Amino acid sequence: MIQAVFSPTGGTQAVADAIAGSMPMQKVDLCGEVEAQAVGVPVLAVLPVYGGRLPEIAVERLRHLKGQGQAAVAVVVYGNRAYEDALAELKNELTGCGFRVIAAAAFIAEHSIVRSVATGRPDTEDKLLAAEFGRAVAAKLVAQDMSEVTVPGGEPYRDRPVMPVVPLVLENCGACGKCARLCPVGAIPLNAPNTTDAEKCILCMRCVSVCPRRSRLLPTPVLSGLTQRLQAVAAERKLPQLFV
Ligand SMILES: Cc1cc2nc3c(=O)[nH]c(=O)nc-3n(C[C@H](O)[C@H](O)[C@H](O)COP(=O)(O)O)c2cc1C
Repeated sequence: MIQAVFSPTGGTQAVADAIAGSMPMQKVDLCGEVEAQAVGVPVLAVLPVYGGRLPEIAVERLRHLKGQGQAAVAVVVYGNRAYEDALAELKNELTGCGFRVIAAAAFIAEHSIVRSVATGRPDTEDKLLAAEFGRAVAAKLVAQDMSEVTVPGGEPYRDRPVMPVVPLVLENCGACGKCARLCPVGAIPLNAPNTTDAEKCILCMRCVSVCPRRSRLLPTPVLSGLTQRLQAVAAERKLPQLFV
């Protein structure tokens, strides 16, 4: 099976790994360039939710996989607010690539911008459910049951969010270039890692999470505004939804 994952800060990857369990997986990292390829095995696609949609760059890279009638599993991971059209978008994208979506799920991970929301998720309970989902998928594959699933959401999709800021860079930046090398959209120049191209930045927070000196962060007013907006959803524990 191929595991195609876009996970700038690791929450989506943790869910993907819990679903995979001991199933052998060939990894396709959607945070980097993906070569166009015909796929001869089932695909597990796991993407995060950004503003109720999928990150555009991840969708563009996913489109390089050609399904040729293979089975696919569509999974979105969100930060305890809502996933809105993202799961339907992923199902439609995979179908458009020539896959049959035989299972789908929405899981919850720590909110990568507002870390006080869904802190520590996916936790033990989430991972047990993810493993159970993985076993159900494996059973369906073994049975050669190619029946497709129905998921909530759909077209017309909500508009993609416009990101209001880019991370700011503190004076203590050592210009090591780690953020530039790991930025999934190439928004940080290697020769000037204390800058960010606002046209390219999708505010995925990878640079903030990987900086060894904690030099990158969101401007405080933006972070407090978002924290306040998400306060209501922080209180309630959303549960994973499985469609098999
Ligand atoms: C730009 C951006 C937009 C987001 N939008 C949503 C959203 O609409 N709903 C939600 O519940 N979580 C949202 N989140 C939280 C992420 O979906 C969640 O934290 C996810 O686990 C991030 O994946 P990662 O840890 O693999 O980077 C957003 C995060 C970012 C960075």
